[in-house]
Amino acid sequence: LAQNERESLFIVTDFAQKYYADQLRTEEGQSIGQSYFKERGFNQSTIEKFGLGYSRDGWDAFTKHAIKSGFKLEILEKAGLSIIKEGKDPIDRFRGRVIFPINNVAGKPIAFGARILKKDTKAPKYLNSPETEIYHKSRIVYGIYTAKNGIRTEDNCYLVEGYTDVVSLNQAGIENVVASSGTSLTKEQIQLIRRFSTNITILYDGDAAGINASLRGTDLILEEGMNVRVVVFPDGEDPDSYVQKVGSDGFVNYIKENQKDFIRFKTEVSLQKVGNDPVARAGLISDLVETITKIPDAIKRAVFYKEVAHLLEIDESVLITEGNKLSRKRV
Ligand code: UTP
Ligand code: MN
Ligand code: MN
Ligand code: MN
Ligand code: MN
Repeated sequence: LAQNERESLFIVTDFAQKYYADQLRTEEGQSIGQSYFKERGFNQSTIEKFGLGYSRDGWDAFTKHAIKSGFKLEILEKAGLSIIKEGKDPIDRFRGRVIFPINNVAGKPIAFGARILKKDTKAPKYLNSPETEIYHKSRIVYGIYTAKNGIRTEDNCYLVEGYTDVVSLNQAGIENVVASSGTSLTKEQIQLIRRFSTNITILYDGDAAGINASLRGTDLILEEGMNVRVVVFPDGEDPDSYVQKVGSDGFVNYIKENQKDFIRFKTEVSLQKVGNDPVARAGLISDLVETITKIPDAIKRAVFYKEVAHLLEIDESVLITEGNKLSRKRV
């Protein structure tokens, strides 16, 4: 029975993906959805590659269509596509939004992210499918299906925050990119990426939130025994806006010139926060040491101790002694 339900969820989610993509070709879809994508610089082949779509600005257009096509309301609700409130007619979850299907590693749609079109409104910018039996957001990254071959051949994965970052970079010819979709990165997501490469470059938004999320992400990636670099974008830019601004070559150059290994990134960001206060500086040092102790590989640890010693002008042996103390405490 459980197996049947999963299969039904796959079928109805696939049905919905095709429906939303078709809606983009209707008159309403053209004048609202298609023109939104055009304004954002997405071309037709990009729209098709990602199966982007449009959900109509009514209450129940999708739900009605799905029921007419033979789907049961119960499965529509379980798939997160319809919302049922007691005593009321069922309504569509996604209404008047552009649709980004979220695919699993095999390329099957399992969920949706839906972006609002109007700017100034109280509604959330993106509405996402709820957790379902086939969609666990902590275990998937957006774009993994289109990215996996590129991640393998480049032996590197670009990790971005948002749907549109993945889409724009693909259009610019950069395919080895996936998004954590706004939530904080999880161990399962990192392990999914690790199936294709052990190298991750974090390209989060150039704002305080993005920098803090990068700091949190690096530790987690290191614990999985992977290598991590970080690129910080100019304030207010994200990979989508930046690649649209400077083009593909400009973007690749920016990464080349600005990517930092995690320890240099962490040291520089922390030094800016800490300033010259000696107590805070000591705290920073133990923080960096703690990060290094999370690296499983002893040779890598040695290299990073050397780098921190150099960056902070402090004796390397002091760092190593601290690190060993910490590691012993942990076991
Ligand atoms: P951002 O706010 O950076 O949006 O959130 P974005 O991706 O740059 O989108 P545009 O360019 O404004 O269209 C990053 C990601 O966080 C998730 C989405 O996955 C989004 O892509 N998010 C953001 C949500 O799930 N809900 C929200 O309300 C906002
Ligand atoms: Mn489950
Ligand atoms: Mn952001
Ligand atoms: Mn953006
Ligand atoms: Mn963004």
